[in-house]
Amino acid sequence: MDIRTVVMSPLEWSGDLLGLGFFQDQTELGEELTLLDDRLGGVLQELIGETEFTGKPGSSSVTRVGGDIRKLALVGLGPAGRVTADSYRRAAAALAKTARQQKCKTLALALPVEDIAAGVAVQAMVEGILLALHQDQRFKSEPEDKGPALERVDILGIEGQTEAISQAQAVASGVILARELVAAPASVVTPVTLAETAVQLAHTYGLEAEILEREACEALGMGAFLGVAQASDLPPKFIHLTYRPAGTPVCKLAIVGKGLTFDSGGLNIKAGPGSSIEMMKMDMGGAAAALGAAQVIGQLRPAAEVHFIVAATENMISGRALHPGDILKAANGKTIEVNNTDAEGRLTLADALVFAEKLGVDAIVDLATLTGACVIALGDDMAGLWSTDDGLAAGLQQAAQGAGEKVWRMPLEDKYFEGLKSGIADMKNTGPRGGGSITAALFLKQYVDKTPWAHLDIAGPVWSDKGDTFASPGATGYGVRTLVNWILAQKPAAEG
Ligand code: BES
Ligand code: MN
Ligand code: ZN
Repeated sequence: MDIRTVVMSPLEWSGDLLGLGFFQDQTELGEELTLLDDRLGGVLQELIGETEFTGKPGSSSVTRVGGDIRKLALVGLGPAGRVTADSYRRAAAALAKTARQQKCKTLALALPVEDIAAGVAVQAMVEGILLALHQDQRFKSEPEDKGPALERVDILGIEGQTEAISQAQAVASGVILARELVAAPASVVTPVTLAETAVQLAHTYGLEAEILEREACEALGMGAFLGVAQASDLPPKFIHLTYRPAGTPVCKLAIVGKGLTFDSGGLNIKAGPGSSIEMMKMDMGGAAAALGAAQVIGQLRPAAEVHFIVAATENMISGRALHPGDILKAANGKTIEVNNTDAEGRLTLADALVFAEKLGVDAIVDLATLTGACVIALGDDMAGLWSTDDGLAAGLQQAAQGAGEKVWRMPLEDKYFEGLKSGIADMKNTGPRGGGSITAALFLKQYVDKTPWAHLDIAGPVWSDKGDTFASPGATGYGVRTLVNWILAQKPAAEG
C-alpha cells in the first residue's frame, strides 16, 4: 500500500473514498467544503444532517456519491483545541476501516491539522491506518476478507513528511510483530522460537543477539528463573538483544519483558473459574513489546544504547515441577519461598532485572502481564506504572500519552512488603490478595539496587476482547509505541 501526502484540495481529488475530518460542533463548512458540497449537490450537508453527525471523537458517517468520488465519509476529531496525536490516529483508523468495509482501493484523508505539528499528525494518521488494517489470518485456512485491498492513501493538504511516514511504518511493523507474537498459540511461540525470532531481528536490523542457555544461566546464579523453567520439556532461553547507536550513546537503557510463553500456574494450577488458563499464551506480552520495540529501534536508530532482555520459559507441571514451598535463590543472592507457583513472572523477572542492572544502564523499564490484581484495579484499558524515580515515571507517562496508550501511576507502598515476609527465606513470592499488584511490584524492587527503575503491569491492555478503533479484537501490541516514544525522547544526562 502506497501512502503519501499530496498538496491538493478535496475538490481536486478523485478516487473511491474521500474522508473528511471535522472538529466537534464545527458549525461552518468553510469555503472549500461549501464548494465541494455545491459540486456534490448538497450531499455533504445532507449526510451531516441525516446522521446527526457532530464530530464527536470516533464518530463517522458514510454515503455513496458517484462520479469522480465514489463515496464520502465524515469522521469526528473531537473539540477543536483539544486534539492530540491520538485524535488523528483514531480518525485515520476509522476511515481506513470504512474504506475496507466499502471495498475501496483508494482513500483520501482531508483532516484539518491545527494546534499540532504536521509531522506528528501525519505520523499518527499513518500509524492508525496501518494498525487498523492489520488482520491476523495466519491460522485461517482461507482469508476471511476477500474484498479488494486498499492500494493508495493520499493525505491531502500537507506537503512532504516522508520521514513521519516512514517512522510510522516502522512503529506499525513493531506493533504488528508484538500482536502476532502474543496471538500465536503457545505451541508456536515457545521459548525456542521466541529466541529464534530475536536472533532473526538482530540479523535483519543490525542488533547484537546473545542467547544464554540453561548452563549459562546456572553459572550466573539465576535460580529463580530456572526454578520456573524446570518442569518444561522445552529449554529456557535468556534473550539479550543490544542496539548500539553509531558514536557515543546519549545514555544506556534496558527494557525487560516478561516472557512466559505459557503460564499453566504450575502446581498451583489455573483451575478456578475465571483463571482463563486458555488465555495464558499471552503471558509473553511484555517480551513481545520488547521485541516489537527492538524492531522499531533497529530501523529508526536513535542516539541511546538499548538492551532488550527476556527470560523466556513456560510455567508447566511435571514430576520435576517446583513444589509450593520450595526455596529458590536469585542471581543477587536473595532467597525466595515459593508459596504460590502461579506467581512465576516475578521470579523470572527477578533474575532478568539483576542481569539488566549489571550492564550499568541509566534506567530499567520492565513490562509484564504480571497480575490479575492490576486488571481488577485498572481494568482492561490501562497499564499500572510503578517507579522508584519520578523523572522516569513522568517520562513514561508522557511517552504513553503521545502513543495513545494509557498508564496510571500506582504506589510503591513499602509498608506492604510486610505481606511478603517469610519465616524461612528472605521473602515469599506472594502476599495477601489485597494490593496484589503492589506487592508484586515491591517484590521486583528487591532485585534492583540503585538504577532508576519502572515497572508496567500490562495484564489488562495486552489483550482486547472487543478491539478498538485501530485494533481488531485480540492481541493489541500494547507497549511498543510507548517504549519507542520514550527511547526516542532520551537526551544526554547533562542536558536533563
Ligand atoms: N500471568 C498471570 C497474570 C495474569 C492474569 C495475566 C490475568 C493476564 C491476565 C500471573 O503469572 C499470575 O498468575 N498472577 C497471579 C498472582 C497470584 C498468584 C499472587 C494472579 O494474578 O492471580
Ligand atoms: Mn502465573
Ligand atoms: Zn504469568
